[in-house]
Amino acid sequence: MFLHRRNRTLRRTESIRQIVRETVLTPADFMAPVFVVEGKGEKHEIPSMPGYYRYSLDLLVQEVKELYSVGVRAINPYVKCDDDLKDNIGTEAWNPNGLMQRTIKEIKNAIPQMIIMSDVALDPYSIYGHDGIIKDGHIDNDQTVDALTKMSLSHAEAGVDFVAPSDMMDGRVAAFRKAFEENNYNHVGIMSYAAKYASCFYGPFRDALDSAPVDLQNIPKDKKTYQMDPANRREAIKETLDDIEEGADMVMVKPAMAYLDILREVRNVVDVPVCAYQVSGEYAMIQAAAQNGWLDGERSMMESLLCIKRAGADLISTYFAKEASKILNG
Ligand code: PBG
Repeated sequence: MFLHRRNRTLRRTESIRQIVRETVLTPADFMAPVFVVEGKGEKHEIPSMPGYYRYSLDLLVQEVKELYSVGVRAINPYVKCDDDLKDNIGTEAWNPNGLMQRTIKEIKNAIPQMIIMSDVALDPYSIYGHDGIIKDGHIDNDQTVDALTKMSLSHAEAGVDFVAPSDMMDGRVAAFRKAFEENNYNHVGIMSYAAKYASCFYGPFRDALDSAPVDLQNIPKDKKTYQMDPANRREAIKETLDDIEEGADMVMVKPAMAYLDILREVRNVVDVPVCAYQVSGEYAMIQAAAQNGWLDGERSMMESLLCIKRAGADLISTYFAKEASKILNG
């Protein structure tokens, strides 16, 4: 048999594979989501996220130091708000002494080089479990944007590096940019969850924060009027370009693994860094299969992350940040 070229030549040995490898992961590719609760000495495993914990702030500082020491350079904290602090308009979200604001201050104080991207959405603070304010049975966009702007300013005041709106309201990036310019926070960046889908893969996260939409009459039971329809691809480009035009420094596609086509398309049309969020349900699937011996957990973790980067992610928010970094460090 005569073949003009044999493609297997480039796969013959590990050294050859290394010199032609197109994508290489490093710990700086990862951003670690962290869950924070009130109290001291609290560390609780999240049942639907085996191996992942909610921490009180004192223990979280240790955890973030460890993340930094393995090479992770960014975290995205999420707080679990006490039920008696929840209301419809999310008042607790801009409390200068709220758990998120204290988390930002303490982490920046203890590990100043660790980048913090704070979640901006009302769901942890909403009695209804929605990212926005409910008026006459629907989510009121503009009133929500006003509340989110107050929330962003309070995160900026606490010292955050980037605010990360995950709410999918229209016009919030422009509102934050304007507020930052007007209030001398022009060093604070915006990482916008630009193409965020109404996905069932967020289930374990909502368990972790007790933030699932409630089942009440006259209250929407899901987030489909603001998060995107999983059926749509062109719309992701529109959403992303809108956020960049409004002033977003970085954009995100979320979830990751079932949306790699979206990630690639977004990567191809924008010039800003693109993040992808390997969400709680993706983590849970890999962990569950690994626990059952159905998949090799470590290899599934590394392959999933590599493929998310190959698809176009500059930064990957992942619950595997620490474990994967340890493996990469050898
Ligand atoms: C809040 C928010 C959610 C996630 C990140 N920020 C949940 C949601 O939109 O319902 C999900 C993250 C994950 O599943 O890992 N707006």
